[in-house]
Amino acid sequence: MLGFGSKESRLCFGQKLMNGYSSYQNLSPLAGICSFSDAAKPGLTVERCVARLKRYHYAFKRLHQIFTARITAEPIYELKMAFSLHAHLCAEHATALRKRVGEMREPPLGLDQVPDKHLEILFDEILAAPATQELLLGLYEMALPHLKKALARHMQDTNPLADQPSVRLCRFALLELTDMIEYGAQAVASLISEEQRNASQQWVSLLEDCLLAAGGLDGVEEGVNKEIKRIYSAVPYHYDGRPRRDKRFPDPYNMGVNAEVFLYDPKYPPQPKTLMMFYKRLREIDVPEMMAGIITETAGKPWEYYRDMTRQLWDEARHAMMGEVGFGNTGVDWRKVMVNFTWSLALNTQLKPIERHAVLYFIEQGLMPKTGKRFEWEVGVASGNPLAALFQDYDWADEVLHARIGRDWYLKEFDSAQEAVRYGDECWSKVLMDWGTWKEQGLTQHRNWWPEIYREACQRWQTKPDPQVLNYSTSYESVRADLKDLSVSG
Ligand SMILES: [Fe+2]
Ligand SMILES: [Fe+2]
Repeated sequence: MLGFGSKESRLCFGQKLMNGYSSYQNLSPLAGICSFSDAAKPGLTVERCVARLKRYHYAFKRLHQIFTARITAEPIYELKMAFSLHAHLCAEHATALRKRVGEMREPPLGLDQVPDKHLEILFDEILAAPATQELLLGLYEMALPHLKKALARHMQDTNPLADQPSVRLCRFALLELTDMIEYGAQAVASLISEEQRNASQQWVSLLEDCLLAAGGLDGVEEGVNKEIKRIYSAVPYHYDGRPRRDKRFPDPYNMGVNAEVFLYDPKYPPQPKTLMMFYKRLREIDVPEMMAGIITETAGKPWEYYRDMTRQLWDEARHAMMGEVGFGNTGVDWRKVMVNFTWSLALNTQLKPIERHAVLYFIEQGLMPKTGKRFEWEVGVASGNPLAALFQDYDWADEVLHARIGRDWYLKEFDSAQEAVRYGDECWSKVLMDWGTWKEQGLTQHRNWWPEIYREACQRWQTKPDPQVLNYSTSYESVRADLKDLSVSG
């Protein structure tokens, strides 16, 4: 009997298959996935294949957790946005791998088990990295490149015909892993000095030791016997729910301009309303900041809950970036718009995760009637700014998806839809937005920044400011109660 172990026997097997054999009229054989000789290589047994897949799955799951947990307190806006995307991508690949493991005669799947205690320490350490610099080094120079190496090795080692469904997953994952690593390399080059890198050397060596002891991320290499001593994860990680912003957000408690009152008032024309919509979109930075906490602090849900919630989190990050692009395209400097974090701060520090989800659901279901997302799209169309119309068109479509996610993962907790909405209203009503105290404490003056922005936009549009629009000065102080049902985020 032919064994598959030696190179000789492999060659023999491949040649036997090819000898005198060709496909019909020289069509690409084997549906074009590989050559005959590749299809004849011994590859991985199902057991060894599944053992590796479970380790990739674990890596993507932990990366998803880390990217999500670190969004809120990360001050740099661009990194918040990138973490939102990378959390979403990792959740999607973890989902695909779970499904694949389930196809490999594997029940019980054991997907909640830790495949290697050294990998657990590796990801615990990165999660607990005390500063942005170390977090970036751990994610983008250690975890992601090692995962990439493991997936590339899977494609090399496995039989491409027998294990084609896994190869397909690896190819897709490699595409996005490469993007993530490229993003990270650029972030590291921009943000980390040689000095900072040197200061992190000891910790980075610990991460390397974890991988050596684990026999590589895929566990294929001989595990090196090393003593691993936790550094940052010696004390268990605690999620930091206080949002932070970089210095381009100089007045994060400012609630001086009420976007909704302006937007819904028919006496104001559509063009300046596009600015308010870009403001509302950009302010949605606070939704990933808030949803990250729900996802991080809610344990024990089916995996699909985390996947769906993270998709929504990423959509909200996209909405914020649409606002950023909208201002840029208009030629208005968004740093003069006071993008606050009062909503995510209040919810994260005052409510339990389920209560925050209730508020999110309550707000989002209010966006579906005619006054919500459709109205914003209509304003975009009427404004003559095609970009505003396009962004609102997609914002509306995303919102329909979010309503579905809300029905799947929030509404089901209640006996009736009315009860679910009532609870959301109740939770939202008990949130204290401390307008006056923030002012007294000198955290903000709630300065009305609107006239400055509107004037700047009028210069770009080459129009004369409309005095009625210019004089708009409604804040969130006096009309808050009446606006209870209007959105602030979502
Ligand atoms: Fe949104
Ligand atoms: Fe939304």
